[in-house]
Parts: sequence; C-alpha cells; structure tokens
Amino acid sequence: MKFFIDTANLDEIREAMDLGILDGVTTNPSLMAKEGIKGEESIIKHYVDICEIVDGDVSAEVIATDFDGIVKEGEALAALHPQIVVKVPMIKDGVKAIKHLSSKGIKTNCTLVFSTGQAILAAKAGATYVSPFIGRLDDISTDGVELVAQIVDIYRYYEFDTEVLAASIRHAMHITQCAEAGADVVTCPLKPIMGLLKHPLTDIGLEKFLADHRKA
Ligand code: G3P
Repeated sequence: MKFFIDTANLDEIREAMDLGILDGVTTNPSLMAKEGIKGEESIIKHYVDICEIVDGDVSAEVIATDFDGIVKEGEALAALHPQIVVKVPMIKDGVKAIKHLSSKGIKTNCTLVFSTGQAILAAKAGATYVSPFIGRLDDISTDGVELVAQIVDIYRYYEFDTEVLAASIRHAMHITQCAEAGADVVTCPLKPIMGLLKHPLTDIGLEKFLADHRKA
C-alpha cells in the first residue's frame, strides 16, 4: 500500500519524506488556501516546489467545472511537471474530462467520490486514481471504510487498472482499516501517519532495554 500525504504544507511533506515512507502527495483547493497559497503564479510555483521535494505522484486539483475548462486547466497542470496528477471532481463534465485526459496519457485522480456507482464511472473513464472520502462518510453515519472495500472488490472482479486512493482519513485506525480493505493508496495528514508509530508497550520495552543496558 502506498502512503500519500494530504497537505500543501512543505514542512510536513519534508518530514514525511524524511521518514522514508512517502510515495506521493495530494492537495486540494482547501489545503492550498490553508497554506495561504493564492494567485495563479504562486499556486503553480507551489505545485512545482512539492514535486521537487517528493519522488512520486502529486495531485493538483482543477477549479473549472465545465469540460473545456477542466481539460484546459488539466493540460496546463500536467505540463508543469511529470509527477503531476490532475485531480478532477466526480461530476458529469469531470467524467468526460477524465476520459479525454486519460486518452492523452495524462494521469488523473477522480475526487469527491462517495459511492460505488461513482467509482465505477471513474474507472470506466480511465482515471489513474479514484478517491473515496472515508472521514466525510463517517461524519454522516455511513461506513467509509466499507465503501473502500466494496470499490476494491469491484475493481478486482472487473480487473480495472484504476487505483483506490482512500482519502479524507482522520486517524491512524482509518489507515490500518483501509489496508485491511485492500486500498492501493492512503492519503492522510502527517498526524495519523505519526499515530501509527505509537504503542505504550514499545515505549515501556525500550525504556527497560536501555535501563538494563546501563546496569550491565
Ligand atoms: O483528500 C481529501 C481530503 O483532503 C479531505 O479530507 O478531512 O477535509 O474530509 P477532509
């Protein structure tokens, strides 16, 4: 399973890279705004900066919602750097644009996916990744991890190439649950990734090993 970090914060991306487990980055307009990145020039520079830090795919989301606009923006984003994956919302023109971009060899990530039906459309259109949003489903009392498992089953059965990228991950347990469900990728903030490190028995065990070593 690949680990992507879901942030536009360069320090967090560097920290995850430094840990040696990072396979890519996902961003969205909210995450870019959170870092105060605005204006076309700054946004473009930021995407290139991210690509230069990580080895792997970097999702950059389009703002347009019409076919021509998504394609134009998507082609411009893809031309920025070979690592860029064009993130396109799951809407009618988005599906058409994913088909168009993927037929031109441009990698796409279909975002804002909340059902198996939407995931089937994304795969049929040739999306490189599909992003089911786990946390936002959990927020409305619907099992987000179960959706990941269902999409994985359908994609395996029909041998779709689209990778299941579990997104909107809120805590470390979501990561392990998505791994059990067979997700190809999880994307999450740095905190849940670091949460995987923690176990009190590790701390207690290490303390004892070091204390015994000092006594010896
Ligand atoms: O990748 C999508 C993700 O950023 C959404 O996360 O926590 O806003 O639901 P969240």
